[in-house]
Amino acid sequence: MTHRIAVFASGSGSNAEQLIRHFKEQAADVGEVALIVCNKPDAYVLERAKKWNVPFLLIDRELLYERTDELIAMLKQHEIDFIVLAGFLWLIPPALIEPYPQRIVNIHPALLPRYGGKGMYGMHVHRAVIANREKESGITIHYVNEHYDEGQHIFQARLPIAEGTTPEQLAEQIHALEHRHYPQVVEALLRRLPAAHA
Ligand code: GAR
Repeated sequence: MTHRIAVFASGSGSNAEQLIRHFKEQAADVGEVALIVCNKPDAYVLERAKKWNVPFLLIDRELLYERTDELIAMLKQHEIDFIVLAGFLWLIPPALIEPYPQRIVNIHPALLPRYGGKGMYGMHVHRAVIANREKESGITIHYVNEHYDEGQHIFQARLPIAEGTTPEQLAEQIHALEHRHYPQVVEALLRRLPAAHA
């Protein structure tokens, strides 16, 4: 049996789409993106889910934080055994981490532990990196624990920042780096896991 991945995404979903494509076209023997979980009804990731025929689940704060058992039951209905956060900005509660030990990962658009924590996401990160005249930035893929951006690191990739780079240009470069590495890193993690469903 192959792994069934839920991608939690609440924005554009470009990483979510790369993951969907990768597991459909290059690593179908390992797993598939079986569900998109989103907290914004108008997020573009939902269009991508429809385009690729991947079911999606819209959640609100109450379901995530107060009715977590129901959410877990829904994930189990879809036989989800691995969770990938890709631009999902709400903190994952301990009750959801508990049934998925070392089975929830996140990508952060900077070299953690720098430029992480609550409020540090997306363009906020890139603006801060440029404002501080950093010479490099990068991406961090890490396990998720109950604190923002603090779980054990799995992978980092770096890129140099040329003089005069704007936050928007940096965002584009970081996205390219994410798209190149995230599907591969998730695939490598799944290849090491037993294919038991949670
Ligand atoms: C990505 O750059 C991801 O690293 C970042 O949100 C973006 C989502 O882009 N996540 C965070 O900042 C989490 N703290 P996408 O919707 O196009 O995949």
